[in-house]
Amino acid sequence: MRYFPAFLDLADRSCLVVGGGDAAARKVRLLRKAGAAVRVVAPRVGLELAALAARGELSLVRRGFVAGDVRGCAVVHAATGLAEVDARVAEAASGAGVPVNVVDRAEISSFIVPAIVDRDPVVVGISTGGAAPVLARRLRAEIEVRLPARLGVLARFAESFRASVAALLPAPAARLRFWERFFDGPVAEDVLAGRGRAGGEKMLSLVNRAAGAPEGLVSIVGAGPGDPELLTLKALRLLERADVVVYDKLVGPAVLEYARRDAERIYVGKSRGNHARTQAQINDLLVAHARLGKRVLRLKGGDPFVFGRGAEEQAYVRRHGIRVEVVPGITAAVGCGATTGIPLTHRAHAAAVTFVTGHGRNGEPDVDWTALARSRHTLVIYMGVATAGRIAERLITHGLAPETPVAVIENGSLATQKTVIGSLRALAELIRDNGIIGPAVIVVGDVVTEADAGATWADAAARGARALAG
Ligand SMILES: C[S@@+](CC[C@H](N)C(=O)[O-])C[C@H]1O[C@@H](n2cnc3c(N)ncnc32)[C@H](O)[C@@H]1O
Repeated sequence: MRYFPAFLDLADRSCLVVGGGDAAARKVRLLRKAGAAVRVVAPRVGLELAALAARGELSLVRRGFVAGDVRGCAVVHAATGLAEVDARVAEAASGAGVPVNVVDRAEISSFIVPAIVDRDPVVVGISTGGAAPVLARRLRAEIEVRLPARLGVLARFAESFRASVAALLPAPAARLRFWERFFDGPVAEDVLAGRGRAGGEKMLSLVNRAAGAPEGLVSIVGAGPGDPELLTLKALRLLERADVVVYDKLVGPAVLEYARRDAERIYVGKSRGNHARTQAQINDLLVAHARLGKRVLRLKGGDPFVFGRGAEEQAYVRRHGIRVEVVPGITAAVGCGATTGIPLTHRAHAAAVTFVTGHGRNGEPDVDWTALARSRHTLVIYMGVATAGRIAERLITHGLAPETPVAVIENGSLATQKTVIGSLRALAELIRDNGIIGPAVIVVGDVVTEADAGATWADAAARGARALAG
């Protein structure tokens, strides 16, 4: 980092601007916003500076610069636009140990002025170290539109409650949690929307409640199929804030990267026949941590309410009187469809889609095969790798054509994704011959003919179906 960022307190400090044109006027405006006592030295000044001087809002010295002008100044700005004069100002200020900025001449300045987004008291300074001023301006424009107009009002509102919150919540961790919740919550929303009075009333009850026992929260969050880019904004925000992250086997390291560095991470992965923890233990874990007032993030692959046991956990946590929220994620069927180009419904191929588990209590799922073996219907089978042969048999017996195209998508959305395509008749061989072990979904139906070129087409029947559809 070439320049050290810092914010100077210039209130009532004497600051010098040398120059009387537009560039000087811009510097004067900034300094006055910071409450500085501004002195301008210039033989001639523009209308804006002349008016300020006439109103006594700056002191104007109508003559050329002399080295003694820098004496006693907190900062000096050289903005004459005359290279020789600006250089003399820089030299005099440096000699007197006074920080100096020369407009557009970083090489003789001792500090540079960032691009600024001002939501007083919230101020954002952006610097590219002089490398790309246009980039700094662009970033400023982006930040400008993202920051709510009343952000400064919100900051002042929070400030007005700081002392009472500190008195009621002496423990720093509890205070931190309170303020994080405050900025995410309805009071902040009210203030940002200009409903300061309503916000103030709610704030009082929020502060009083916070003084009681710390309130935990369990967020049951879908992490999507694996690619962290497929996390929702809300999932990301919760990940960055959670005190404890309780996660499954399907949640990979790329997603966990977004968790707070100091968050406790607890792996509770379950795979067939190998359960790191039982469901009952997981439920207890969520409740136990929330009771300590922690923000618990229960992170699940895909969507928590699609073959995710999210509902059981939600009910258990609720039964124990703890706040619980559910954040959806992109389920494997939807994620795998997108990454393979296979739509789940399609005007020409399928008017309905069913997500079904391939894994039942006794191995095979307990489902209505006749209802599933319909044409113009897409089936997405989760957890079906081990039982694929029997599932294909049942579907064919109940009327689905043996040459119906199928796709098996393993590790959908990850760099290791594998997509193989064949016919229903040969589903078991397709899985075996391509070494698929999962996690994988099986898509059954004519929509598979829409798959993009990256997929491996394993048998002639499936290729024939594609040709027909095309
Ligand atoms: C216990 S279920 C969890 C499903 C998850 N809740 C969802 O909405 O995707 C596990 C199954 O989801 C499917 N699955 C999850 N992630 C996957 C991925 N990235 N690629 C393919 N299948 C996946 C597999 O069928 C796997 O056996």
